Amino acid sequence: MAKKSKNTFYITTPIYYVNDIPHIGHAYTTIIADAISRFKKLSGKEVFFLTGTDEHGQKVEKAAKEKGLKPIELADQVVVRYKDLWKALNVSYDFFIRTTESFHEKSVQQIFQQLKQKGDIYKGIYEGWYCDSTEHFLAEDVPLEKGGHKTCPECGTKAVLVSEECYFFKLSAYQKPLLDFYSKNPTFVRPPSRMNEVVSFVKQGLKDLSITRTTVAWGIPVPDDPDHTIYVWFDALHNYLTGIGYKWDKSRFQKYWPADVHLIGKDILRFHAIFWPAFLMAAGFPLPQTVFGHGWWLKDEAKMSKSKGNVLDPHIILETFGADPLRYFLLREIPVGLDGNFSHEGFIHRINSDLANDLGNLVQRTLTMIQNYFNGKIEEIGREEKEDQNLRKEFESSKEKILKFYEDYALNRALEEIWSFINTVNRYLAANEPWKLAKDKSQKKRLGRILYQAAATLRVISGFLFPVMPESSQKIWDFLGEDKPLEEESLSKLKFDGLKLGQVIKKPTPLFPRVDLKEFLKEEKTRQAPPQKEEKMEMITFDEFKKMDLRVGEILKAEKVEGTDKLVKMEVDIGTEKRTMVAGVADVYAPEELEGKKVIVIVNLQPAVIRGIESQGMLLAAEIEGKAIIPSFDTDVPSGAKVR
Ligand code: MSP
Repeated sequence: MAKKSKNTFYITTPIYYVNDIPHIGHAYTTIIADAISRFKKLSGKEVFFLTGTDEHGQKVEKAAKEKGLKPIELADQVVVRYKDLWKALNVSYDFFIRTTESFHEKSVQQIFQQLKQKGDIYKGIYEGWYCDSTEHFLAEDVPLEKGGHKTCPECGTKAVLVSEECYFFKLSAYQKPLLDFYSKNPTFVRPPSRMNEVVSFVKQGLKDLSITRTTVAWGIPVPDDPDHTIYVWFDALHNYLTGIGYKWDKSRFQKYWPADVHLIGKDILRFHAIFWPAFLMAAGFPLPQTVFGHGWWLKDEAKMSKSKGNVLDPHIILETFGADPLRYFLLREIPVGLDGNFSHEGFIHRINSDLANDLGNLVQRTLTMIQNYFNGKIEEIGREEKEDQNLRKEFESSKEKILKFYEDYALNRALEEIWSFINTVNRYLAANEPWKLAKDKSQKKRLGRILYQAAATLRVISGFLFPVMPESSQKIWDFLGEDKPLEEESLSKLKFDGLKLGQVIKKPTPLFPRVDLKEFLKEEKTRQAPPQKEEKMEMITFDEFKKMDLRVGEILKAEKVEGTDKLVKMEVDIGTEKRTMVAGVADVYAPEELEGKKVIVIVNLQPAVIRGIESQGMLLAAEIEGKAIIPSFDTDVPSGAKVR
């Protein structure tokens, strides 16, 4: 294969399983990839950013069955959720691969056949402990427990002993080549602690790997032996080749392969750092540059995952704040390799202190002063004093560090450094007190110099922030009167005084309004979707059911709750009295449509205060795609009638 040009950069995310809708953990990997990809583009590279969905295998087969769908129907639904989320998060990928696409399936079969002919894949009998949830055979060293079974160390699920005829990949033959490769490429796996983990695992010895199943129908059939389907990981890993045109766009494939970085969560390190390079060696492909394993987002100190039922839906945050604050928080809060605990308190604190106070105020006051004192146009400035020169020096040293941190994928360090520079500028303004100078006409040029310097720093700050907060950075850039889109800038060429004298500065609009934590938590609680009932449905007794007093009510009056999109305040006649209730139905029904409607109300539910209004009962509604649909009666029923 021809050597790829140094000016191209190929980055991937894992492809996500379609057994469930995306949560903040999935969003995290994709946001990191998007920020790195945007940084590389601003550094002048030709970037290809691949993401997609992993659609075969037992997990998807099982989830579809539970929902009464065909696996492909479930996949089609979940893919839309992923694509919508990436759009809402401003993720700008170049291609979205689905492993059910025929170009992918055909290539996987063809590579399988090639390795079989070469002798790297052979048929045999496998017996081992298999975890249905993570879809892999447990390592031999996982101990047998008292009941005579093994438990998956990754997800805690009971594994099952499986014995079946299958095809093996000769992983054992690649132990030495892998170890040689790691020692020549010590940064293949990053961070370094993860490289050590991989090396010591491989040193313990590698067994051949079972790469087909006869028990899973939903997979790519083995060529000429269709009772066997290809193991979902063998199938999925090859997306990194097929997604950039392997066998369907030769020039693109040659341009971008090998990948510069496969970004993954630490849960799937072995698949990427051991199996994947071994498969590639066997098929004769050059190996990727880096596998970067990031940590996990935890909720209540446990990894956020569907099986634990502690996932956070990013949509509530996105609808309230837009993409940038969430992107900023996820990338700033934890170093890329470590785990972090997600809390709304931590999130709101970052918005208020870093975004609203430090950055938002700097933009607001600098640009407002330029409006007020110079009509938006600084044309003349005094000479540079010592403190002005110091600011310039600070910029030079910060720029060097910021670019280096970005290059190293140390996004939180890059952001820390950007904030340290923002605070230097805030201190510069506080020390020079331009608002006082404005009172003295003879100081006009000095005032011009200080405000020009501050505005010039906003220009470079917006450039540095673009990979992480593309929307807000572009806004700052536009306030400054720049006409070229920010994404066409080159980060390394960003100069301190790139701002032209006489450039017309626009009136700023607020970027990050402060958030009231208590109000937000209240709102969040009313909107958070109920936990998904997974394996076991929780049953209640008839006596428990009987405790609920359900009645027919008539909505007499309805009005929207100010400042919300969904909430409606209603007066409901429940036969014996009139009650005030608040319900999240304004996105489906206009208040006037509600008036006169008969509804089912739980009347003995403890009142709850929503947006300062005491809600004395709750309406029943069907939930369809997050929207509440009110059921109706097919005959007239009086208010107060009991519902059983
Ligand atoms: N389909 C496989 C990957 C195949 S890649 C060839 C898979 N899918 S997954 O949907 O279960 O998870 C994919 C990735 O989502 C994880 O590796 C990780 O990058 C991300 N995360 C899922 N939960 C996460 C957290 N709670 N925290 C951070 N990232 C997490 O594995």
